[in-house]
Amino acid sequence: MHMSDKGFVLWFTGLSGSGKSTLSVPVAERLRKAGYRVEILDGDEVRTNLSKGLGFSKEDRDTNIRRIGFVAELLAKNGVVAITAAISPYRDVREEVRGKVTRHGAGFCEVYVSCPIGVLAERDVKGLYKKALAGEVKNFTGVSDPYEAPLTPDVTVASDHDTVEQGIERIIGTLARMRLVPETT
Ligand code: ADX
Repeated sequence: MHMSDKGFVLWFTGLSGSGKSTLSVPVAERLRKAGYRVEILDGDEVRTNLSKGLGFSKEDRDTNIRRIGFVAELLAKNGVVAITAAISPYRDVREEVRGKVTRHGAGFCEVYVSCPIGVLAERDVKGLYKKALAGEVKNFTGVSDPYEAPLTPDVTVASDHDTVEQGIERIIGTLARMRLVPETT
């Protein structure tokens, strides 16, 4: 079996607007060029399909993350690289998903996209931080709802300092170090 036939899960976590989706697209492209089949499960897209109707309570977020984890595991088991890009704010559920994926023999790499809340509120691409700070959006992650940063992520990209290119290199380098992709990827 060729190495590019072995699937794994590349799990992004980070606040809204931190750059998870932005990084996931060129990383997917890079892996496709290396011969991998890749699927991106993006938080915003999942919430309009697979998780339509779910809200942002801990219970609903956990359901959302478990669903994403379930699909990612199915993909990885069948030789696909599953890239997930949801906030996934709770450590316990992230660890639960990691446990399930690795127990079934697939690789799992956690990418923490870090960015100070002040920078995100300043950027505010979707205008949601302004609303959250004004109290118009309740339970907003990082403002009025928890975000539990990973304690031991496999790789961290600081999107307030690192360029997208640096982020891609660091992620691919980590995958190579973890022996999930060849050094030449
Ligand atoms: S997660 O917590 O369940 O992982 P997910 O990544 O699917 O979140 O969705 C986050 C996106 O939903 C944000 O990028 C933002 O556009 C939108 N959103 C709407 N309300 C909230 C909220 N209360 N907290 C966080 N994100 C919200």
